[in-house]
Amino acid sequence: MPDRLPPIAFAEPFERFALWMADAEASEPNDPNACALATVGTGADGLPEPDVRIVLCKAWGPEGFVIYTNLASAKGRQLAACPRAALDFHWKSLRRQVRLAGPVGPLADEVADAYFATRPRASQLSAWASRQSGTLESRAVFEAALAEADRRFPGPVPRPPHWSGIVVMPQWIEFWEDRPGRQHHRERYDRAGEGWEMRLLYP
Ligand SMILES: Cc1cc2nc3c(=O)[nH]c(=O)nc-3n(C[C@H](O)[C@H](O)[C@H](O)COP(=O)(O)O)c2cc1C
Repeated sequence: MPDRLPPIAFAEPFERFALWMADAEASEPNDPNACALATVGTGADGLPEPDVRIVLCKAWGPEGFVIYTNLASAKGRQLAACPRAALDFHWKSLRRQVRLAGPVGPLADEVADAYFATRPRASQLSAWASRQSGTLESRAVFEAALAEADRRFPGPVPRPPHWSGIVVMPQWIEFWEDRPGRQHHRERYDRAGEGWEMRLLYP
């Protein structure tokens, strides 16, 4: 188990997050940047209903945590109606978890354009062809939409207007690390003015 965190070592939590992500990038075979994204939707009875799914976090730091998605998807619509989200990273083999939550906002178009341009062509075409989380009658319908996008954009594929980045700006971040005997180490950072206040939490 890695043990490189002297308690209360960081003035702000993004440095620690970057260290932990670097550890995950070195050790996790797949998608070390995968995290659960929790949103608030509306249930069939009209009451608020939590929703959660895995996404890839593509940037992190004082400017916020960036995920990319179809803005017309369930999560996109939920975040438009209730612009609050929580993220949860779990690095199983490192036995670490990071949770955070806060308001969300749109990513600047030029940043989303630049990221979209780095994606493989197949992923770019999929962003055009997929009505993410809508009902798909058959795979053939999706394949036809992919072929149509391929014909429409024989050269570079522009970013679809319905596909962009969402920035989660944490109001709190919690770092959890496994310790023997369920005596885990938890550090919670809460925003306080321009900085952060850190306290330990019982496991
Ligand atoms: C490892 C992994 C990474 C994923 N990354 C993304 C992502 O970055 N963006 C995204 O929109 N969906 C991603 N998905 C798919 C989502 O989990 C989800 O199925 C999809 O976004 C529809 O969710 P929604 O209906 O709640 O909007 C990923 C799924 C997995 C398992």
